[in-house]
Amino acid sequence: MATESARPLDGFLAWCRPGFENDCAQELAAIDAQLATGGYARARRDSGYVEFMLPDEAAATRYGRAVDWRALTFARQWLRLRARIDALPASDRLAVLLPAIRAAGPAFADAWIESPDSDAGRELSGLCRSLNAALVAAMKRERLIDPAMPQRLHVALLDPATALLAVADVSRSAPWPGGIPRLRFPSSAPSRSTLKLEEAFLVLLDEAERERALRPGMSAVDLGAAPGGWTWQLVRRSIRVTAVDNGPMDASLLASGLVEHRREDGFRYQPPRPVDWLVCDMVEQPRRVAARISDWLAAGWCRHAMFNLKLPMKKRHEEVVLCRERIAEAVAGRRLDWRARQLYHDREEVTVYAALR
Ligand SMILES: C[S@@+](CC[C@H](N)C(=O)[O-])C[C@H]1O[C@@H](n2cnc3c(N)ncnc32)[C@H](O)[C@@H]1O
Repeated sequence: MATESARPLDGFLAWCRPGFENDCAQELAAIDAQLATGGYARARRDSGYVEFMLPDEAAATRYGRAVDWRALTFARQWLRLRARIDALPASDRLAVLLPAIRAAGPAFADAWIESPDSDAGRELSGLCRSLNAALVAAMKRERLIDPAMPQRLHVALLDPATALLAVADVSRSAPWPGGIPRLRFPSSAPSRSTLKLEEAFLVLLDEAERERALRPGMSAVDLGAAPGGWTWQLVRRSIRVTAVDNGPMDASLLASGLVEHRREDGFRYQPPRPVDWLVCDMVEQPRRVAARISDWLAAGWCRHAMFNLKLPMKKRHEEVVLCRERIAEAVAGRRLDWRARQLYHDREEVTVYAALR
């Protein structure tokens, strides 16, 4: 993709939560070490993104084949970098972008102009929107947009004059700009935490899995349930919930007839019979939560588990790896399906889906 103002790049761009760049970089470096692809991360604290550079196109292709956005914990979106443009003229940015896009062609399913989820990045969102509309119109005129194409074009605007050009396979990348599903807070839900579980179902399961695993009449236990945002997500799918928490549950949830509230310790509670789902949002040491999830999976008390790991300020990547290893050891002999993500609606935490296969 070399044009006069575009410098070709072999590497990847990961959008992440500002403050989590190191964790994202460590995760990408660990994969690189396994693949022996010789890459390195470029990350600036609070920037909201990480660039992971590979030595050449062959290494980038190998790395890209091995990594899918669903497999990453700290990246919200995962894009193959193609070029960097350092001098976008304020008077006509498209005049510089379009030749580089033509060189990357032949055509793309769509084109998104995005900025990081940082304070500086959000100041660019108006510019991104207007430029995106103009870019798509120009690309359509030149037949550079074709919904049947497998790849989407991404322009990451880092500042008004600097852009990274990237592409993503539509089927192997997040279907939301910035990797952020914009969810509306349901007015009848008792807490904003409800959006975490909604996002987790969207991000960690695919559509077919959601249809199979979240059916009316199923059963669930919610550990640390009060006031009931997670329970609300289950009840709205007509799933029966045992809500375990010493705190009070939302009255209208209790009136639904689908919720049994038990004022018990979530670390001791045992279900009288196996349930379809265990969900857990207790604020506790991640290792302690992981140990309890291990108990549930190993005993066969649930088929699916969705839980939060509230992470320490440092070594967050290591802590997630350690929790995964502990659960895998506890269920030794069974294959652990583990999917973890630092979600947009999460804070200093990751949300994990785990099941035994
Ligand atoms: C972050 S809040 C949960 C919010 C809830 N998921 C929602 O959507 O409304 C954490 C909850 O965990 C509960 N909790 C903490 N330790 C617990 C324990 N050992 N057993 C039961 N609940 C516990 C707290 O009482 C608190 O209500």
